[in-house]
Amino acid sequence: MTANWKNRTLWTGDNLDIMRGMNSHSVDLIYLDPPFNSNRDYAAPIGSQAAGAAFKDTWALSDVDEAWHGEIADREPALYAIIDAAGLAHGKGMKSYLIMMAVRLMEMHRILKPTGSVYLHCDPTASHYLKMLMDAVFGPGRFRNELSWRRSNPKSHGKKNFPNCRDIIFRFTKTEDCTFNQVFGEHNPEYVRTAYKYREPDGRRYRLLPLLNPNNDRPNLTYEFLGITRVWRWTRKRMEQAYQDGIVVQLKPGAVPQYKKYLDESKGRTITNDWRDIEQAAGNEYIDYPTQKPLALLDRIIRVSSNPGDMILDPFCGCATALVAADRLQRQWVGIDLSSLAAKLVNKRLRDDAAGKDAGSGKLFFEIHHRTDIPARTDLGPLPDYRTHKHTLYGRQEGLCNGCRVMFPFRNMTIDHIIPQSRGGGDHLKNLQLLCGACNSTKGTGTQEELIARLKAQGLRN
Ligand SMILES: C[S@@+](CC[C@H](N)C(=O)[O-])C[C@H]1O[C@@H](n2cnc3c(N)ncnc32)[C@H](O)[C@@H]1O
Repeated sequence: MTANWKNRTLWTGDNLDIMRGMNSHSVDLIYLDPPFNSNRDYAAPIGSQAAGAAFKDTWALSDVDEAWHGEIADREPALYAIIDAAGLAHGKGMKSYLIMMAVRLMEMHRILKPTGSVYLHCDPTASHYLKMLMDAVFGPGRFRNELSWRRSNPKSHGKKNFPNCRDIIFRFTKTEDCTFNQVFGEHNPEYVRTAYKYREPDGRRYRLLPLLNPNNDRPNLTYEFLGITRVWRWTRKRMEQAYQDGIVVQLKPGAVPQYKKYLDESKGRTITNDWRDIEQAAGNEYIDYPTQKPLALLDRIIRVSSNPGDMILDPFCGCATALVAADRLQRQWVGIDLSSLAAKLVNKRLRDDAAGKDAGSGKLFFEIHHRTDIPARTDLGPLPDYRTHKHTLYGRQEGLCNGCRVMFPFRNMTIDHIIPQSRGGGDHLKNLQLLCGACNSTKGTGTQEELIARLKAQGLRN
C-alpha cells in the first residue's frame, strides 16, 4: 500500500492521532525513541540552539485515555494482561506509561510493510515490559535482537547504584521475510596487528586459520595431507590446488597445515548486538536537544533495515536525527513530534545538512511538508454507512450505554465515534460505540476519557 503523505513530511502533533490516519503497510522502517519513563521532565539549556525544547516523562493514569485501555482489552487480550501485570508489580505510573506505548505500538505494527522492521530505543527502566509488549503486538518469533548501545557518558541512577551506560534497542520485524543488509565495521588496528601478523613479500597482510573439520564423522574428508591425517574442511582436490596456489601452508614439518586469510579480502569487523563504537552526539552535530541521539547510530540502523527509496518513520522524532540520517542515505522519511519547536529545529537541521553542514547559511534543495492536520486513510475503500452497525453494537454492549453503563432500549441508543471524526477517527466498527442520548451530548466532540471524567464528577459512573 502506498503512503498517504509525501516524502519529507514533518507533522507536529500527537503521533497516535497521526499514525491512526496513515495507511496500513505503508512504511518500511520505524525507529522510535520515545520517553523512557525516566520520571523526570526534560528541557534544553537556555541559550542553546534547542532552547525551549521540552518534554515530560512522568506518567499517571490521568495522562492516558481510558478508551485506550478498553481498545487494548478488545483487540489484544495478551497485551492487556501484560499491562495489568506490570501495573500490579510496578504501580500506576508504569501502567500508564505502558498503556501510552501499547496503543502506539499497535498502530506501528499496522502501518509497517510485511518486510518492515521496528527499532524501539529504551533503557532498563521499562525495557523488560516493553519487550513483552512488543512480543504481544508482533507475535512469537518476531523478536530479532536486543542491541546494546554503549553511551560515552553514563547516566547516574542515584548514589547506591552502578551508573547505567547502556541503552537498549529492540529490533522486531513484521514477518520472517525482512530487509536486512549486513554491515561491517572497521577492524581495530591493534587486532589487525596481532591477528593479521603475517605478510607476503609484497606487504599483503594475512592470518592463518585452521583447516580442521569440526565434524569428526566425515569419512570422505578424512585423508592424509602433508604427512598429517585428519578430518579436513576441504576435499583433497581443493586442498591440493590451494597448496599449489600458496594459500595452504605448513609452518614446519609435522605441523597441521593452515590456510591464509588476507586482510584485504575481509569484509571488516562483524557487527554484533553490542554496539560500543558509536559515540554520543558531540561537536557541531550536538544541538543540545534533550536526549538527542547520534547520527551514526541512525545511519547504521537505516542502512541495515532499509534500501534507498524506502519510507522511514520516526514517530518521536525530536530534533530529527533519524530524518537527517535517512535523507543522507536517499531514503524517504516522515517524522512526528508533539513539540512545535522540534519542527523548527528539524527544518534548520535539514537545511544546514543540505548545505554541507554550514550552519545557518543553508538553502534547502527540497521542500519539507510541515503538517499539523490529521491525515485521512485512503486504503480503507468505501466503508458502509456507520449507522448500519447499530444492531451489532447493541448486541456487543448487551444493551448497556458505554458511558453511564445503564441499560437502554435500542431506540434510545445513539452511535458515537470513540475517537472523534475531528481527531482522525474513522467509520469502521472498531471506532464505534453506543451511548445513551445524555452521554452522547455530554461527550460532544471530546474524547472517551473526558466523558468518563465528567460522568465520574457527576457521580454517574464509578
Ligand atoms: C527522546 S526524544 C527523541 C529524541 C530524538 N531521537 C533525537 O535524536 O532528537 C522524545 C521525543 O518524543 C516527543 N514526544 C513525546 N510524546 C509524543 C507524542 N505523543 N507524539 C509525538 N511526539 C512525542 C517529545 O517531544 C520528544 O521530542
